[in-house]
Amino acid sequence: MTDKKTLHSLPLSEAISIAAQAISEVMSGRSLTEVLDQLEPHERPIVQSLSFDALRKWIRSHELIKQFVPKSPPPEVDHLLSVAIALFLNENTDGKGYAAHTIVDQAVSACANYDKTMYAKGLVNAVLRKVSLIVQPPEGETRFPPDPIPMFVPPWWRANLKRNYSKAWQSILFAQAKRAPLILRVNQKQYSREQYQALLNEVGIASSPIEEVAGVKLVSALLLSNPVPVSELPGFYSGAVSVQDAGAQLAATLLSPGAGERVLDACAAPGSKTAHILELADCEMVALELDGERLGKIGGNLDRLRLHSDQVRVIRGDASKASWWDGRLFDKILLDAPCSASGIVARHPDIPFLRREADIKSLQQKQRGILEQAWKMLKPDGLMLYVTCSVFPEEGEEQANWFAGVHSNAVRLGAPGQILPTDVSDGFYYALFKKNGP
Ligand SMILES: C[S@@+](CC[C@H](N)C(=O)[O-])C[C@H]1O[C@@H](n2cnc3c(N)ncnc32)[C@H](O)[C@@H]1O
Repeated sequence: MTDKKTLHSLPLSEAISIAAQAISEVMSGRSLTEVLDQLEPHERPIVQSLSFDALRKWIRSHELIKQFVPKSPPPEVDHLLSVAIALFLNENTDGKGYAAHTIVDQAVSACANYDKTMYAKGLVNAVLRKVSLIVQPPEGETRFPPDPIPMFVPPWWRANLKRNYSKAWQSILFAQAKRAPLILRVNQKQYSREQYQALLNEVGIASSPIEEVAGVKLVSALLLSNPVPVSELPGFYSGAVSVQDAGAQLAATLLSPGAGERVLDACAAPGSKTAHILELADCEMVALELDGERLGKIGGNLDRLRLHSDQVRVIRGDASKASWWDGRLFDKILLDAPCSASGIVARHPDIPFLRREADIKSLQQKQRGILEQAWKMLKPDGLMLYVTCSVFPEEGEEQANWFAGVHSNAVRLGAPGQILPTDVSDGFYYALFKKNGP
């Protein structure tokens, strides 16, 4: 959010300049999370806010750039303009933010911060002045834009949604173009939801419980009326709460872990769902992750939430292979598979710019490899929950049908299946299997 706290963290011109360079990195194929992770702590909130908004407003900002710069500007200038124009568009939609002259001045100064854009000060100044007249018209004239603008997605992605959701495809894109709300998961080992809500009230943070998603009751989810930095959340650093989308909170709930059960989280980093499972029950947990860098985040999360014990092991390994396994079967397996992440675009607006159509087939193969191996590690009568944060049926229902088709001992139990993005939930897929016999 471009709120008061972030306004003063960094001069706006510098933030625009860094955000524009972050956008350039995304356009050359780098994940925005990776780019943002490299920033200084005081830079991150405002740069993240500006770059997220620039990606969310991509369609509208590029209509405007095209209107005022008939010959496409070089990428560095285009990216700087897209960051600055998004600031106007936000101001227009939520009434907060910066004055038009500040945006223009700061964007022009941002040009001077970077040698590749230095020459374009005049162009940026002229374009932004014209944009400001459109988005802040004289009284009595129509404001722009009058309607919400959908998220940018590549044509193959749009075609997939249209094919699979002939009625809902546009509302999916509209939902994903909005800023995602801040949702908390209260650590039930420390507080009930009501107790934590009372703590929030004491410090003036308004919240409301999210009682269910897709018919599954949630007991820990709290929606904040306005986002705040985590440092302002009571007890955050001693593990009272985590930030987690409500749809993601279904995973541990559906797996329903019991004390002493042996549980595998097969694709665990950064460990949000591992932690949720451990908040619900003292189980014997193996958190497996292939990516060495991401693996470290699991330990960090468990430390903060005070969930480490000699019952919990964090292992680097490949879930589609057995080389890391000690041969002891699991009572329950969470398989939160690597996927396109097409369901979590509201929180990661760089995703549509990074995915390629061919990724879906190769992800499908990976998911099948992990499903096959995990099934061999499950006890008879054990449960396996297959999860993706995707809205593409190739990664959801098609996979579950394929799996049930090739395993006669896989019985499908009740689970929501495909969940489409809403105001409080990202898009997810959930299928629950019981192993009937060996
Ligand atoms: C959707 S994310 C998991 C999110 C996590 N469950 C959470 O809630 O915090 C999928 C994870 O699987 C990991 N991964 C990909 N292929 C894997 C494999 N073959 N074995 C184990 N982990 C894998 C990725 O590095 C990524 O961290």
